[in-house]
Amino acid sequence: MILITGGAGYIGSHSAIDFIQEGHEVVVLDNLSTGHIEIIDRIKAFAKQKKGKFVDFVNANIKDVNALSALFKMYKIDTVVHFAANSLVNESVSNPRKYYENNILGSISLLNSMIDNDVKKIVFSSTCATYGEPEYMPIDEKHPQRPVNPYGNTKLAIEFAIKDYAAAYGLKYAIFRYFNVIGADEDAVSGEWHDIETHLVPNILKADKNKVFKLFGDDYDTKDGTCVRDYIDVADLARAHTMAYKYLLENESTIINLGTGEGQSVKEIFAAVEKYLETNVPLKICQRRAGDPAKLIAKTTKAADVLGWSSRVPLELSIKNAAEWEKVLKTVKNSPVVSKTHKGVGE
Ligand SMILES: NC(=O)c1ccc[n+]([C@@H]2O[C@H](COP(=O)([O-])OP(=O)(O)OC[C@H]3O[C@@H](n4cnc5c(N)ncnc54)[C@H](O)[C@@H]3O)[C@@H](O)[C@H]2O)c1
Repeated sequence: MILITGGAGYIGSHSAIDFIQEGHEVVVLDNLSTGHIEIIDRIKAFAKQKKGKFVDFVNANIKDVNALSALFKMYKIDTVVHFAANSLVNESVSNPRKYYENNILGSISLLNSMIDNDVKKIVFSSTCATYGEPEYMPIDEKHPQRPVNPYGNTKLAIEFAIKDYAAAYGLKYAIFRYFNVIGADEDAVSGEWHDIETHLVPNILKADKNKVFKLFGDDYDTKDGTCVRDYIDVADLARAHTMAYKYLLENESTIINLGTGEGQSVKEIFAAVEKYLETNVPLKICQRRAGDPAKLIAKTTKAADVLGWSSRVPLELSIKNAAEWEKVLKTVKNSPVVSKTHKGVGE
């Protein structure tokens, strides 16, 4: 049985969908701080439709050792797939305390509880933000890790903790460093739903004459002056976690970049969204933001060599799925909640 922390959020919910689709039993733990109970409802409905196994949703904080301990005693968890975190770079600069408390203390509490309850496998969501300002491109897993913001620092600290716990307590891990995640599953069960949205595609999709899309910097040393990023589809990303679960059953720990190995500029993404929508999106060119590197592209050969994983979903399809999800989201926000949230296990 798999425990997904942060499964009511964007990426965790897609991972739950993929595990369920692949026939695994899934328990989700989430404190709904940035996730949504409506997404849990939708995953449950999806599991029912596919005759999949959504076992339980526990509304708890990963810092709550009693809740974790009860969960590990109630369910025979084989692997924890750990998404729960705060991940807004700007907020981490203005409020580092929140990030150190939630991401680091939370993850340590989870790791301790895993060890205490003999749960010995973890798949962890890390980020390309742990690399900091790139020294070469594409960025491979051996690239120096010098984060330039507190969010990246917290993720790097958790990587260290996982490695140390692995060496001392026999934990096995797959650490994934994601590049820029986009899209939604093709059934629009879930998608991006962040109350503070900082991601490119949903912000272009949400733009209108009252809320003009702001493009930060068009004077970078790139093909068209705008920042270049490696956009990886969320369904592809989710599939890598399911593959890592299987991989860890028989293999040793690993650290892997998840991206496409291709770079798209902000202007290219903007044009692709406009093309899909068949409309002009209102745009304002603004000053560069501090701390945005010109280019971030993953070297992805390790994912292929170790896991046999590579991205499949073309950019146009990711954009289409994201746009379809935006429409669904409007109805989801107005629909009644079905799931009862409970703080403990078996209540
Ligand atoms: N979205 C990206 O592009 C991206 C890129 C790199 C890494 N990541 C990492 O992937 C993970 C998921 O990101 P996301 O975009 O889905 O974020 P999200 O905010 O949509 O999901 C995070 C989920 O974790 C839950 N959560 C947070 N703190 C918790 C706690 N203490 N206890 C229990 N639940 C808690 C939230 O309620 C939410 O449902 C994060 O760890 C993030 O750092 C995301």
